Amino acid sequence: MTPLPIPLPDPLPLPMHPGALKALLLVTFTLHLMAVNLGVGGSLIAAVHALRGKPKDRELVRRLAPLLPGAVTFAITLGVAPLLFVQLTYGPFFYTASVLTAVPWLALIFLLMAGYVLLYRFVGSAGSETLHAASGIGAALLLLSVGLMLVNVTTLSLRPDLWAAQAAASPHGLRMNTLDPTLWPRYLHLGVGIVAVAGLLLAGWGAWRSHTYARQAGLRWFIATTASQAAWGTWLLVKQPAPVLDLLLDGRSAASLSLWISTALGALALLMAIPASQDGSRPQAVWAPFGLGLASTLGMILLRDQARDAALAAFGFHPGALPYKTDWLSLGVFGLTFLGLAVLLIVVLRWVMPPAASAKEEAP
Ligand code: HEM
Repeated sequence: MTPLPIPLPDPLPLPMHPGALKALLLVTFTLHLMAVNLGVGGSLIAAVHALRGKPKDRELVRRLAPLLPGAVTFAITLGVAPLLFVQLTYGPFFYTASVLTAVPWLALIFLLMAGYVLLYRFVGSAGSETLHAASGIGAALLLLSVGLMLVNVTTLSLRPDLWAAQAAASPHGLRMNTLDPTLWPRYLHLGVGIVAVAGLLLAGWGAWRSHTYARQAGLRWFIATTASQAAWGTWLLVKQPAPVLDLLLDGRSAASLSLWISTALGALALLMAIPASQDGSRPQAVWAPFGLGLASTLGMILLRDQARDAALAAFGFHPGALPYKTDWLSLGVFGLTFLGLAVLLIVVLRWVMPPAASAKEEAP
């Protein structure tokens, strides 16, 4: 059998223990995804409410809109750190996949810029009588297509067995990773998840700011999108390559436990969100589905990482075995930069969210 064309890892040792790099990858990816949930999922929700056009929808959009460009900015900035950690640990896979699907990969930048322009147009119109709902929908779809480009590279990076066929089918890197049956279910699962978490964040904001409509609308977004995960999640699971599927279904491994525990947490969040979204429900009823939904998301992030390592182990790659030599200077500079970003995030959040005392009355 011809050996698979997997490049050798970088001969330089990693700048710190692979476990520490993995932890940093997981933390920074979680932050990236939370900002994506807020900015991209929030844009879609705001645009749909703008399209509905009722006075209470317009009022909601006016309250939400100022948060969106900042959240997308954080999504981009917080995407850089996981990009660096992925390249360090999974470089031979990530680089090969991005070269093989170069045109969709580079298109990401233009889709992002176009989405950003439309988002500003939408947000700029939020205070005026003529709300540009179409710009909002366009912005959300463009930003969600950035997610598709990332799923495209991520899925291809896990399938070295498809690389030769991908290169033969499109030597100039024009094609998406459509040979891989996980591309679309993975994208739908993640894209719908982004909107679900945005709904949860909206519901939490509504409960915190005593805004009944935001609370109920957020929970309804969460319920509808999470219920549909029964289809997308199952489709994604059954399309996994055999070694990953066996691991996920064995009922004993950490990956299998992550799958079943996070699915159970998500289902429980869904069941608790239904009564909490009804007229006359108490604002505090939001917090149980809110906490369970976020815990389920964290579990899925762990699961995603365990499934990646299982997929690559089938090709003989074990990130934990990579050589390393701790570079304390780079670690210190990274720590300080990260701290600076955290302070900036707090300042921005305080700036866009004035103290809750001004909103004592429950809005209709
Ligand atoms: C604002 C639009 C964006 C959206 C909707 C988005 C969404 C996503 C999604 C859904 C994933 C998971 C992909 C998968 O598991 O298959 C992901 C991963 C990732 N994103 Fe973003 N993203 C956005 C922007 C960015 C930008 C601008 C960067 C880089 C600066 C970035 C860096 C990353 C990285 C490195 C990963 C992979 C992390 C890993 O494999 O652990 N993202 N993103």
